[in-house]
Amino acid sequence: MKLLDIKETSKKIIRKECVIEIFGLGYVGFPLSVKLAKAGFRVFGVETGPDKLRRLEEDLLIGNERNLKSDFKNVRKKENLIFSNSSTPHSKPKIGIICVPTPIPKKNMKSDHYVILAVKDFLSSSKPGDIIIIESSLEVGTTELVEELIKKKGFHLGINFGLSYCPERIDPKNKKWDLHNISRVIYTSDNNTFSAIKKIYNHINKGNLFRIKEPKTVEVIKSFENAFRLVNISLVNELAVLCDKLKINISDVIDGASTKPFGFMPFYFGAGAGGHCIPKDPIFLLNSSKKFNFDFKTIQSAVKTNYFIPKYISNTIDGIIKKNNFKKSVIICGMSYKMNMPDMRDSPGFKIAKEFSEKGYDVMIHDPFIQKNLLSKYFYENEMEEFKLSILSKLKKENVSGTGCLVIVQHHTKSINEIQRVYKKSYVPFIYDCQGKLKKHYKKSCLLKGLGSLG
Ligand SMILES: NC(=O)c1ccc[n+]([C@@H]2O[C@H](COP(=O)([O-])OP(=O)(O)OC[C@H]3O[C@@H](n4cnc5c(N)ncnc54)[C@H](O)[C@@H]3O)[C@@H](O)[C@H]2O)c1
Repeated sequence: MKLLDIKETSKKIIRKECVIEIFGLGYVGFPLSVKLAKAGFRVFGVETGPDKLRRLEEDLLIGNERNLKSDFKNVRKKENLIFSNSSTPHSKPKIGIICVPTPIPKKNMKSDHYVILAVKDFLSSSKPGDIIIIESSLEVGTTELVEELIKKKGFHLGINFGLSYCPERIDPKNKKWDLHNISRVIYTSDNNTFSAIKKIYNHINKGNLFRIKEPKTVEVIKSFENAFRLVNISLVNELAVLCDKLKINISDVIDGASTKPFGFMPFYFGAGAGGHCIPKDPIFLLNSSKKFNFDFKTIQSAVKTNYFIPKYISNTIDGIIKKNNFKKSVIICGMSYKMNMPDMRDSPGFKIAKEFSEKGYDVMIHDPFIQKNLLSKYFYENEMEEFKLSILSKLKKENVSGTGCLVIVQHHTKSINEIQRVYKKSYVPFIYDCQGKLKKHYKKSCLLKGLGSLG
């Protein structure tokens, strides 16, 4: 086997005489695998979750994956997308793209845990001429750590091995900004690797890459982008709390401020930011600043507010329930962190459910996107294993009557009709809408309240 350098790899990428291994077939890795396989690359999807791997090998798609059903079918038929649970050696140059989770660091789990495992797996079958691209969000310093691992294996960055950090910026369900038109910031170990990688991203986002010299700068950019969102979401949610106290409507404040043609960008209130990015990546920045004896107070405060809002909501509802002598039972409606999405990671719905369980309420949860097999994972993440919650599949009269309050945390299009029926027919005495989307009907006997003095 002839051992390649990065320049030769670059030429082979143009002719698609290379293999792409994508580690982690989740929200980021799955669409990327399908896209690159559709572009004609031979893609190996490496997935360590045994259930997911089995399901994909059997061509069974769920949730958002179904949007790519026809492309998926075609690339599987052409054998351009193959699955496995670990990296495999190939004679052709290999490009490893790392899309594994980077969790909030805890005592027994560092944020880079899965990234390092995936990198080591790739390196175990690597040869000169191969390249690693990391797309996962990283804590500051992780790319340099990966550089060390590559060097320890005897490879020479920029000569016979390449490394890049190109964080994913995808916003699931965003119809305007998608994988193909979102620009990227990118660090690459050297010019040859940049030129090689650009040939791959030509098929992802038309090669719209903004190259940055320092890996740390790219790591900070990724976290800062999400810190910007968290700070603004927390700002508007704290404003909602103030509006409650002032008894003024938050929507009037946001709409009014939005008439300013410059210098203001509206953010919308709700029960708090969730998902695998916005509440988490700013914590990476906090941790990194702590290492340099610096407290990033704006982010610290935004993170605190994001924890506080679910408590504030449950306390407000509890107060109204007690005052009106309603039953101590709630239905939490909308467990995903985002509208029309099945992703329930770090979602405020679970935090509110936990608050009510701790207050001794009967708690039911409802969401048309609930995947029962994932619930234990969400309960574990939210330290709720010991709580008893029932799952309501439908918001029918017989299921909801007698409940103290319907708490709408997330509105899904699929639930609109059922929620409106509960309100119109006053099946429950009280509805609390965290996002203020349900329109007040003055003739209804059902009490409608919401965050930010709505209702
Ligand atoms: N979800 C988003 O919208 C989004 C957006 C931008 C960036 N990101 C970042 O991208 C990364 C991936 O996020 P995601 O939402 O796709 O995660 P995910 O949990 O949906 O998918 C990750 C997959 O990786 C698998 N995995 C774990 N360790 C592995 C290993 N060593 N080898 C192979 N597979 C492994 C898991 O089983 C899982 O299926 C994270 O760092 C996240 O912060 C996510």
